[in-house]
Amino acid sequence: MTDDIIAIDGPAGSGKSSVARLLADRLGWSVLDTGAMYRAVTSEALHLGLAPDDTGAVARVAQRSLIETRPRVSINGRDVHDEIRSDVVNVAVSVVAANPAVRAAMVQRQRAIAADEPGGLVVEGRDITTVVFPHARVKVYLTASLDERARRRGEEGGESVARRDHADSSRETSPLRQAEDAIALDTTGLSVDQVVEEIVRCLKNTTSD
Ligand code: CDP
Repeated sequence: MTDDIIAIDGPAGSGKSSVARLLADRLGWSVLDTGAMYRAVTSEALHLGLAPDDTGAVARVAQRSLIETRPRVSINGRDVHDEIRSDVVNVAVSVVAANPAVRAAMVQRQRAIAADEPGGLVVEGRDITTVVFPHARVKVYLTASLDERARRRGEEGGESVARRDHADSSRETSPLRQAEDAIALDTTGLSVDQVVEEIVRCLKNTTSD
């Protein structure tokens, strides 16, 4: 199990994916986009004609499917890289991600991926700092104003971003929240590069302690 984990959580459009990718590139580490895993399960459930709230059947999909996130996102050999960003998946993913059995299956896989990782790993999602890797070397909570997050998503008004914020923060199992010991970074008006620099600085502080 690698001890070199940087855990990043935050709401939609806070910059997690871009920051995680650039950070991993800069450090020569691997990256894990856990949102892509929930999205892949959602896409597969819809592909099989399941209702997103059919908890038992969707949980079985989560438990039995082969999910790859790199270099492209696929589930059971089917490339869903682009499809997972569609409006139907955007709407259904919060329902699927609120399913405790789906979450248990994803968390188990995420820890197994880290256990197999020979180098460092940047992991981003909603429950990474609080549930999956609470002992990560660096824990970051990214935020940004709703306006800016909606703009980054090319969305006017930010309704769908706000709807997902609400669903993710109010669900019973592993809601999105800032871990007490996470570094909070407001990325409003900051470039991806600036955020990455700040996290690299935090990482260096952990080594010199
Ligand atoms: O990129 P964006 O922030 O829009 O979303 P994402 O990271 O791809 O995650 C999509 C959805 O999956 C979120 O709205 C959450 O409902 C769920 N998710 C989660 O519950 N836990 C995670 N660790 C990652 C994502």
